[in-house]
Order: sequence, then structure tokens, then C-alpha cells
Amino acid sequence: MLQNYKIVTLTHKQAPLSELGQLMVQYDSEQELREALQALKSAFGMDGLLYLSTCNRVTFLIDLPGHVSPDFLERFCKQVNPQLEASQCANLMAKLVFLEGEEALRHLFEVAASIDSMVIGEREILRQLREAYDRCTNWNLTGDNIRLAMKTTVEAAKEVYAKTRIGEKPISIVSLAIQQLLESKLSRSARILLIGAGQTNTLVAKFLKKHDFTNVVVFNRSIEKAERLSELLGEGARALALDRLASYSEGFDAIITCTGHTQSWIDSELYTQLLRGGEEQKLVIDLAVPNNLTEATRAQFPIHYIDVEHLRSIARENLAFREREVTQARKLLTTQLYDFHSTYQHRSIIRAMHRVPEAIKAVKSHAMNEVFAKELRDLNPESRQLLERMMDYMERRCISIPMQAAKEVAQ
Ligand SMILES: NC(=O)c1ccc[n+]([C@@H]2O[C@H](COP(=O)([O-])OP(=O)(O)OC[C@H]3O[C@@H](n4cnc5c(N)ncnc54)[C@H](OP(=O)(O)O)[C@@H]3O)[C@@H](O)[C@H]2O)c1
Repeated sequence: MLQNYKIVTLTHKQAPLSELGQLMVQYDSEQELREALQALKSAFGMDGLLYLSTCNRVTFLIDLPGHVSPDFLERFCKQVNPQLEASQCANLMAKLVFLEGEEALRHLFEVAASIDSMVIGEREILRQLREAYDRCTNWNLTGDNIRLAMKTTVEAAKEVYAKTRIGEKPISIVSLAIQQLLESKLSRSARILLIGAGQTNTLVAKFLKKHDFTNVVVFNRSIEKAERLSELLGEGARALALDRLASYSEGFDAIITCTGHTQSWIDSELYTQLLRGGEEQKLVIDLAVPNNLTEATRAQFPIHYIDVEHLRSIARENLAFREREVTQARKLLTTQLYDFHSTYQHRSIIRAMHRVPEAIKAVKSHAMNEVFAKELRDLNPESRQLLERMMDYMERRCISIPMQAAKEVAQ
């Protein structure tokens, strides 16, 4: 019954990320993408098409009645990417996944519920899928069957996020670092030195701001980037050039450091300078690889030291926890899939019934203008009027009775 749903996809599970581009629609502007997708839809006579492209998957959800021919996939890939060379095409054929009917829908549900993600439980994929759907719908690509599938897909994914703990424990290094900072029970006015203003520490700064840590001094080699981060952190934050670190005299409660030095560089001498006589244990979160703090520094001072290796081991544990939730998530999705059969059947009945009024009107018109035309002409005006009123009455009843019955079945 669900045979018209088809999926052509290539994901991080089948191919290295560098190869995903081979199945992506090639375009320079939104207009070009729209035209390419419209051409794809009409080339294969699809009733609906949804195109999803992220950094670790390319997926086409297709509404196409009947079975596809054996050369469908090859023709499909060439239509999607006409620049494909023969060897790339052969490579794609070997890795591509084609799913039909219930299996296609199950895959769609699992994608939305992030079971199929590189990092299980990452909700971002649901947002990406909904955006892809909105875009394709605005371009008149999707149609009623895909609308129906998407509605259940979103509901199913939300149920998984709400009823399982699949997305609960953080996986990203920066989220975990902030979790450690919060667990250390430092006060919100604690003096924090944020060393480095690259991508990682920009993310750190956003979290610091979110959790109201405002007493932050940002040190960076290029002062402009330090200033940008300090602005992001808001009032209470300051920016200083990295070469001012050794002479910084205001002490600190925590250091979060992440610079791209190729060797550990915060040595005992520099650390002693920063302490300014303070002897109590400090919190140091070192996100750099290699670590910014030298081993000797770590050994010499009382430091609550958290480095990337430690955070990665927590990430692995959390990921294993998320994976254990997958079994429960799959059970929920199976129930949703089961229910979708009847949702689809009911919708099909409603759609079929939409043709009833027109068909009945056509029967009436045929009867009056062709089959009984001569007899009607012979009737006197009163009889003819009466007959027409009876016919109108019958038409309305003939339409409303089956429509009502269909609604009752669909409820
Ligand atoms: N923990 C993780 O999961 C994770 C993830 C990604 C990266 N990292 C590590 O984090 C570090 C930085 O990553 P990122 O993504 O923030 O990189 P990024 O955006 O390239 O930023 C690099 C930062 O390091 C500074 N820097 C680089 N070389 C330096 C040097 N020789 N002396 C002084 N400052 C220097 C840069 O200063 P300027 O602004 O002046 O150039 C900038 O602030 C690297 O060690 C990387 O291995 C860790």
C-alpha cells in the first residue's frame, strides 16, 4: 500500500563525507536548485519530491507510483548530477541505498529521530528536515503523500525526543566543558581567563554568556578577535593581547584555554605569575590539542584540571548511553509506522471521494442532456421543473451519503 514512497540516499554510513557531493544537486543559486529539482520530478513523473542535503547525508524522498525499472538508479544519478564521470557513477551505484514502501518510511522516521545520525540524538537533523520540506513545498515539489509522511515523521521524532533520553547527555566537547564548569560550583562572578579566541572559544563564550559568567578576560594573539569575544560576552568582560598574559596581575579562579600552539606553552613560570600568590586549587579547562598546559605545570600546582581527553571519555560514555536508548526509540517508531498504514488508507479514501461530486454531476448532465433529452423536451414546464428539482435533490444526496460514509471510516 505504501509502495509509492521511495528513498534514494547516500549517508555517512555508506560513503566518506567527501563522496556525498556526487549525489548532490549541483547549483549556484536557489533558482537553479529549484529548476533542477523540478526537472528531476518531471523527468521521472513523480507525484512528489523532497530533497534533503546536510553535511552527512543526501536524501531524496520520492512519491512515485509503481515499481521502478532496473536502470532507474543510474538514470536518477545522471539526472541529479550530469557531470558524474563513469567511474564515479559506478562507485555511487555500489554505495547508494534505495528503499521502498514501509522501509523508506522507517528510514525517514529514523533520520528525523536522529537514530541514523553520525552523533545519535543530535536534534539538528529534525530542523534540517523540516526546512528542506518547507523549501520543497514552497516550490510545489512535495504533494499530499509527502505532506502526510512528513506530518507523521515530525510527530514520531518528537515522541522519541520526549519519551526517550536519546538526546539528553551532551556529546560535544564544549558542552561537556561547560557542564564541568557548572559542576565545579564556581560563582557567577568568578574571575575567568579565556585564552584564545578561535572557533572553539567563541562557542565557549556563548555558553559563558548564557550561564551569566561575565567576569571574563579574553586573551588572544590578535586583539581584534579578543575584542569581538569580549563584546559578545557583554559588560564585565575585557579583551587583552596574548603577550599581556605574563604581566597580568589580577589573579584568577578559572582558566579556559584553547589556542592552536603546536606545543604546550603555559609553563610553571607563567602559571606562577598568573597565580599572583594564590595557593588554593584552581579550575583549568584545557581544550587545546596538544594541551596548552605543560605536564610539569599540571604536576606542580593544585589544579582541578580538565582536558580534551577526559572530556572525550565522558562523550564516549554519553554516546553509549544514547545508543542504549535507540532500542526504545525504535519501538516507538514501529508503533508510529503501524498507525501510519491506517492514516494513509483513510487519506486515500478521502482523496478518492473528492472525485465523487464531479462524477455525479456528470452523470446527471449526461442523463438530462443526452439519454432523456427527448422525453424532457416533451414535458410541460411544471413537470420539467419538478423533475429538475428532484434531480438536484438526488444529486446532493448522492454526493453527501458516500462523503459522510467516507468521513466516518476515516475518523
Ligand atoms: N576540543 C575539541 O574538540 C577541539 C575541537 C577543535 C579544535 N581543538 C583544538 O583547539 C585549538 C584551537 O581550535 P579552534 O577550533 O579554536 O581553532 P581556530 O579557530 O583556528 O583558532 C585558533 C586559536 O588559536 C590561536 N593561535 C593559533 N596559533 C597560535 C600561536 N602560535 N600562538 C598564539 N595563538 C595561536 C589563534 O589566535 P589568532 O586569532 O590570533 O590567530 C586562535 O585564537 C587547537 O589546539 C585544536 O586542536 C579542539
